[in-house]
Amino acid sequence: MAKSEHEWGSEQYDQEWVNKDSRRAAERDAQFNAALSWLSVFVSGQSRLMDLGCGPGTLAEKLLTAFPEMHVICSDGSDEMLKLARQRLDSYGNRVSYAQADFGADNWTASLPRQLDGVVSARAIHNLRKLKLIGPVYGQIHELLRPGGVFMNIERVNFATPTLRRHFRELQIKTRGHAAKMDGAAPSLAQQLSLLKRAGFRDIDCFWRETNTAIVGGFKRE
Ligand SMILES: C[S@@+](CC[C@H](N)C(=O)[O-])C[C@H]1O[C@@H](n2cnc3c(N)ncnc32)[C@H](O)[C@@H]1O
Repeated sequence: MAKSEHEWGSEQYDQEWVNKDSRRAAERDAQFNAALSWLSVFVSGQSRLMDLGCGPGTLAEKLLTAFPEMHVICSDGSDEMLKLARQRLDSYGNRVSYAQADFGADNWTASLPRQLDGVVSARAIHNLRKLKLIGPVYGQIHELLRPGGVFMNIERVNFATPTLRRHFRELQIKTRGHAAKMDGAAPSLAQQLSLLKRAGFRDIDCFWRETNTAIVGGFKRE
């Protein structure tokens, strides 16, 4: 899989991440609920959405529960994560399908379904780190959508200036005892919006934000 400081794809690493993540369920729920709330007005009926970098299927499960007619395609570069997603989503039967795809690789969309009503992603694409790598992925997501389809990315966003980044680190240390390691590398909100614009999306905005996590997205032109 594309280079990252994480060891995605290792059985032990993925399982440890899932265990750690379950301890921050309240924080995750706030993000997921904000996305679900917007999606309730962006998509309707028998829609097909892809969860890109789905991990163990936490967001996919919320989508399948909230939207009883929705089909969700769970996509991840890690076979281990897809295995965990399959276990979690087993009871949803043929409303879920699975696709192994590394969005850091060339032609990663070649075997993925197209004309999607939506693509959602949570804390996955920042693993590519560099704007010049993230930008093309936004363009390829745009190609996977049907005209009018929506992309919503729940993602880390960096504060815009070195001074704000320093203050945010101080705030994290004060409130949580430590500062997250990756904050130096994630795109800022303005950079995220600019990447979406360059990828061809319309009606781009930040739909929700809490400190360094935001939901950014937009729509494919009709
Ligand atoms: C922080 S986890 C988030 C999982 C899930 N979206 C969630 O919010 O619970 C990041 C996920 O992105 C996947 N990932 C990282 N780099 C990837 C890549 N280049 N291609 C596809 N998936 C990738 C990892 O395997 C992992 O499942």
